[in-house]
Amino acid sequence: MRGRGNPVLLLDAGDCFFSSPTKKPPTKAEELQELRKGRTVLNAYNLLGYQALGLGPADLQLGIATLVAFEKEARFPFLCANLVEKGTRKPVFKASTVIEAGGIRFGVYGVMMHQLNETYRNRVVPDAELLDAEQVTRELVPELRKSCDVVIALSQLNVDQNERLLDANPGIDVLIDPLSRNGTKAIWIAENEYYTERNGFPILRIDGQGSRVGVFEMYFAPGSRRLKEHEALDAALEPHFMRHPEMAQVVEEFEKGRTKPLVVDFDTLKPRLSDELLGEEGCGSCHQDQARFWKGTKHADTYSTLEKTGDHFRMDCVVCHALGYGVAFADLKAVGRFKEVQCEACHGVKPGHADEPKKVVFGPVLEDTCWGCHNPQITKKDFRYEDSKDRASCPKIQR
Ligand code: HEC
Ligand code: HEC
Ligand code: HEC
Ligand code: HEC
Repeated sequence: MRGRGNPVLLLDAGDCFFSSPTKKPPTKAEELQELRKGRTVLNAYNLLGYQALGLGPADLQLGIATLVAFEKEARFPFLCANLVEKGTRKPVFKASTVIEAGGIRFGVYGVMMHQLNETYRNRVVPDAELLDAEQVTRELVPELRKSCDVVIALSQLNVDQNERLLDANPGIDVLIDPLSRNGTKAIWIAENEYYTERNGFPILRIDGQGSRVGVFEMYFAPGSRRLKEHEALDAALEPHFMRHPEMAQVVEEFEKGRTKPLVVDFDTLKPRLSDELLGEEGCGSCHQDQARFWKGTKHADTYSTLEKTGDHFRMDCVVCHALGYGVAFADLKAVGRFKEVQCEACHGVKPGHADEPKKVVFGPVLEDTCWGCHNPQITKKDFRYEDSKDRASCPKIQR
């Protein structure tokens, strides 16, 4: 998204670190597993350059101290306007933040439903209190508006509460809603529920489980700071996206049980591009037989298919018709040498192979790799692996 050159604001409304809340306290082993999971998400969000995070009931699962420790490691603020210390009534986290992007000041605030299950609340936040979320919003938003142009609510409330908030018109421009009813959240959200409106105000939702990201495009008239038009889209994060090497490392650490804080010492607001992809020229310099074979397949002519219809600047097409979109190039206009479904799209990426081919090996191409792109739901074409394998398999190395 950042590679397209427009300013991007990356936000999450919360409930992202742990599993669903449980009334019973976790065992020591469960707690360690949850901690590792939470830290993996935190590392990933730092790497992705998240700019603000709301908090939801499940985030409280390991108590406030854990969240406070996480926030110290986070490169973005945790927002919750209605979680306060008992007695002093001091907010535990920041209520809101103002982020500038493209010359517009975006005020972002977070609020969490206060009607938590009592047993859960007493266990996870014995020293804190959750104030009435609607009242806190009505007090906070008019104040926030004074210092920004657009107000975005990360509102972890039930649907009816969120609708009431917009009815009261406190000054929210866009509301991100978890689609929660009586405290129970939807896990999968139907496509026609991603976007709705209440009195003309946009309500945005997206599935959990990391299967999709919601995209909300905002348009402003030149010289104006008022939201003029908008469009809501969703982007599916399906397996045809190549693994980003740094993100793959974060996941691998989790799988190996070694999750530790990630050092992020670069500008996360710029795309992180990898220069490890060799492509047909790099690989072909040693594997001439295979490169010649590949040149004769349809995979060497996938980009021109898009060019014919002018679809080569669409991110939802290029990802399967080129090599390494989002990993090796992010600006669709700078595709350069990454046109076509080249070697690493099937073989994967193995830094170090060219230096030590006997030691750093690729291993076989798995059937799943084909299905990542040959997804009949997207291509509207049947794919039979057994019938197509030979047409795509490069010849064996002659020894
Ligand atoms: C990165 C995405 C991607 C991967 C991975 C991929 N393909 Fe393809 N494949 C394509 C695209 C795109 C086309 C269509 C080319 C065109 O017409 O522009 C295609 C075309 C083909 C065709 C030619 C279809 C025809 O009837 O002419 C065969 C056969 C094929 N793929 C087999 C495979 C096999 C087998 C694998 C796994 C070993 C595989 N593909 C992996 C994207 C991919
Ligand atoms: C999930 C991966 C994927 C995505 C995303 C994708 N394609 Fe393809 N596309 C393929 C594959 C695989 C084939 C080959 C299908 C076959 O021949 O079996 C193909 C074939 C094609 C063909 C030629 C064959 C035909 O007759 O259908 C066109 C044209 C095409 N794609 C256009 C697009 C456009 C436009 C988009 C974006 C809207 C797009 N593709 C997005 C994987 C993808
Ligand atoms: C500097 C030369 C060189 C380059 C560049 C190179 N390879 Fe190789 N590759 C070799 C050699 C030599 C072997 C055979 C190793 C052996 O004898 O075990 C090999 C073996 C392989 C094999 C079979 C064994 C295995 O690793 O699974 C595959 C697949 C392969 N290469 C793919 C690639 C791809 C894809 C690229 C580009 C990303 C690439 N190679 C780049 C030299 C190279
Ligand atoms: C559409 C997927 C696909 C693409 C693209 C592709 N390959 Fe292959 N390649 C295969 C498959 C499948 C095999 C058969 C061996 C296997 O199953 O791993 C193979 C085999 C090979 C082998 C022989 C491995 C051995 O064990 O002898 C080499 C080397 C190789 N490919 C290199 C390349 C190079 C270089 C390119 C780019 C110019 C390339 N491949 C592009 C799918 C692909």
